[in-house]
Amino acid sequence: MASQLLRDYGFYEIETPILESTALYRRTTGEGTDIVEKEMFSFTDKSRDSVTLRPEMTPGIVRAYIEHGMLNRPHPVKLFSWGPLFRYDRPQAGRYRQFHQLDFEILGNPNPVADAEVIFLSYLICKKLGVDATVHINSIGDSESRKEYIKLLKEHYRNKRRLLCEDCKRRLTKNPLRLLDCKEPGCRELASEAPQLVDHLDEESKQHFIKVLEHLDESEVPYVLSPFIVRGLDYYNRTVFELIPTGGEEAEQDSETPVIAQDAIGGGGRYDGLIEHVGGRPTAAVGMAFGLERLLSRAKAAGTVVPKKKKPQIFLAQLGEEATKHAFLLFEKLRSAGFSLEANFAKEGLKSQLELANKAGATFAVILGQKELLDGTVIIRDMENGIQEVVDLEKIVEELKKRLKHSS
Ligand code: HAM
Repeated sequence: MASQLLRDYGFYEIETPILESTALYRRTTGEGTDIVEKEMFSFTDKSRDSVTLRPEMTPGIVRAYIEHGMLNRPHPVKLFSWGPLFRYDRPQAGRYRQFHQLDFEILGNPNPVADAEVIFLSYLICKKLGVDATVHINSIGDSESRKEYIKLLKEHYRNKRRLLCEDCKRRLTKNPLRLLDCKEPGCRELASEAPQLVDHLDEESKQHFIKVLEHLDESEVPYVLSPFIVRGLDYYNRTVFELIPTGGEEAEQDSETPVIAQDAIGGGGRYDGLIEHVGGRPTAAVGMAFGLERLLSRAKAAGTVVPKKKKPQIFLAQLGEEATKHAFLLFEKLRSAGFSLEANFAKEGLKSQLELANKAGATFAVILGQKELLDGTVIIRDMENGIQEVVDLEKIVEELKKRLKHSS
């Protein structure tokens, strides 16, 4: 469903390697981030190069965009990808060491409409899966306005260092913005009294943010302004956002401390400097990723039925050694004729194969036995009423087409 939706909106699927050089993540995700500092599965390969199991998809997509000449395609270039990711973390509900993301990116559109498109699509995907989610959105401005703001933030924390958790004590020097989204209650209280970044944005970022919000208003995407969302990755500028399941948000709002994305089902933002930073032409970009385990468990809890595997039209059963040898060719003949079919070449008895055909919900079983093979025939069994007919093996495709037409 989600990939069809993205294709309809002009996104192309891309698959990037699961293993990339460690240097790529250090340069992109960022040295001071939790991911690079604590969560990467990195090791040295046989050439003594350090490689890492990908902890996120954006760096690999950006590398592929630069290395595979996508800079020369008409812009914006819209890409999406699915797959496994790895982060070394304490496993707990909704937080795994191997998990999956659906990631999509718009490369080469600096206009606020691109931020709004990404957010609108994320919201639409949640809606189609029956997941009630709200967009929590913030702007972290450009690097200059952020520098000024960080001075104010450090000033705010100047005499409060001893009240911070150990991680935040480190963040104070390495990555002060992350003080705002720490989950520890003491740190959250201090963050709620801190100056807010949106009040210190440069004029261009402010105008950009207003336009993004106007688009969201028009497209009826529910959002809340959330000054504590700064995102844990280094490459963002301007718009940052997370999708928070609506129930989770209520639980958070009951407490006196600020709303924090404890269990975001997805998040993303704009990263206009990243492509140039890793060697490409200056190219504005924006994207997001869903955590699929979190998204699908919410969809399941909401009672959304994930479409089951489609029933095959045909189950091919084979009896005896010679028939089994011929079964591959017959399977391929039927498959390339366009039928959906299944078989289990390891099973020998007819009874067990017909049970499998029944379980799979096949409309017809095609039975190829020793005798039929010698006669150049095959049996077609109607799985609903058990009626069997012997037909010429040469004419099997037409015979099946005829019967399937009548049965539909
Ligand atoms: P992220 O916020 O690190 O962003 O991850 C996106 C989503 O992946 C999270 O909202 C969460 O649902 C899921 N997730 C993260 N870690 C885990 C885990 N250990 N177990 C289960 N689910 C997890 C990024 O990865 C950015 N690359 C998103 C992006 C794309 N920004 C721009 N383009």
